[in-house]
Amino acid sequence: MEDTRNQNMQPGLEDRVVKALIQRSQKAKDFAYCPYSKFRVGAAVLTVDGSFFTGCNVENAASNLGICAERVALSKAVSEGHQRFKAIAIASDLKDDFISPCGGCRQFLIEFGSQWNVYLTKPDGSHRCMAVEALLPAAFTPEDIQKEKKEEEKAQI
Ligand code: THU
Repeated sequence: MEDTRNQNMQPGLEDRVVKALIQRSQKAKDFAYCPYSKFRVGAAVLTVDGSFFTGCNVENAASNLGICAERVALSKAVSEGHQRFKAIAIASDLKDDFISPCGGCRQFLIEFGSQWNVYLTKPDGSHRCMAVEALLPAAFTPEDIQKEKKEEEKAQI
């Protein structure tokens, strides 16, 4: 069943595409390497040209080296030449909650635009859709870096 509390949702994703994206995130979860937390997460991103990339969380004995599913999926896409995204779906085993990305992943997502869709899901496939910008208001973004450069250039004149 679909949750209707969508926030700043971008139009254009057909139900069947959302379903396919969520299914991919659920499959990716099966590969989670999480011997420490035992908390499995999967993610699937959809690029603007219709390609899918998936990721799972990959933990490490040196705990701060672990990486979230969302960052794995995005990094796989970027490392294969994709930087423009329509949506990401995130899956976990939490039955009663829509899995929500951590702060670091929100920052990682907004690097590639604020106006794309994040599907927070439950194992039964139900979802809540939020725009990246709704998940990280007042964000520090690549545009801020550009502003800084422009200010420096002005100061040098
Ligand atoms: N985790 C993710 O992969 N994505 C999230 O959105 C939340 C947390 C992972 C990190 C860690 O491996 C485990 O879940 C428990 O925090």
